Amino acid sequence: MAGWTSDDARPLSRESLTALFDNEIPAIRIPAFAAPGECCAFADAMRQCTPRVVQGATEHSAPAFTGQPIVFIGLTQYEFKYRPMSDYLDAADASRAEVAPVLAAAFDPVERLMARLAPLSNGEVGIAQEPGGRRYSSTIIRNSNAGLSLHADFAPYQAPQLTVSACDAQLAWNFYAEVPAGPGGHTTIHNAPWHWQRGTAGEIAENYPLDPADVAGAESFTFRPEEGEVVLFNSRNPHEVFRVEDPGPKDRIGLATFIGRMPSGALHLWS
Ligand SMILES: [Fe+2]
Repeated sequence: MAGWTSDDARPLSRESLTALFDNEIPAIRIPAFAAPGECCAFADAMRQCTPRVVQGATEHSAPAFTGQPIVFIGLTQYEFKYRPMSDYLDAADASRAEVAPVLAAAFDPVERLMARLAPLSNGEVGIAQEPGGRRYSSTIIRNSNAGLSLHADFAPYQAPQLTVSACDAQLAWNFYAEVPAGPGGHTTIHNAPWHWQRGTAGEIAENYPLDPADVAGAESFTFRPEEGEVVLFNSRNPHEVFRVEDPGPKDRIGLATFIGRMPSGALHLWS
């Protein structure tokens, strides 16, 4: 596989955005994406919500693998990968009301990021939707103190029922509102893009967990999030989040979505 042209994350620019989609650089970091007061308001509002807790593993995961608990509000399509599309779309509508109090108390990171990306993109930037116009979910706000096992995310493999499965590359981005002092809580990205072959029409790839042997010997990039920053990376690269060892008074709280680069050059966001 081709090596990254940089050891380190790059600032956001038209060039770095293209390079990240093309997996030429490990990450893009946007420091001070939010002001300290916005971060506090965001994290405090999240703590006022009643989150759901799901176990990362599903009945389709490897035997004996339980995964870390994911504590969140909002929605991920991951939970709906084996369910009818209408269930996901209905839940997406409901999830917008669920996250609204947090966005109202602080700010809307999705809108802010889309505004930053629009002048850098070769096409429109917007929330992904069905051909009929129903919008996908575009927000998950979670406490990731427990970490996340090695996995990759790529809609053409995992979500053939979504319009974004036509994307030619996919990024994940996280806004970090609150970060414990640690140790732990860091993220490692491995330059070993996930490859999988569909056996039968409509087959859905399992991505959680991936085998550590898949990334053995690959170059990697590790970062510890800073409060207020956004970090984007190519989610087809296997990545893992290490458990926060001693959170203390703070939690690892952030918002995430995916960004698919469509054949037209448009950037479509979903979660
Ligand atoms: Fe991921």
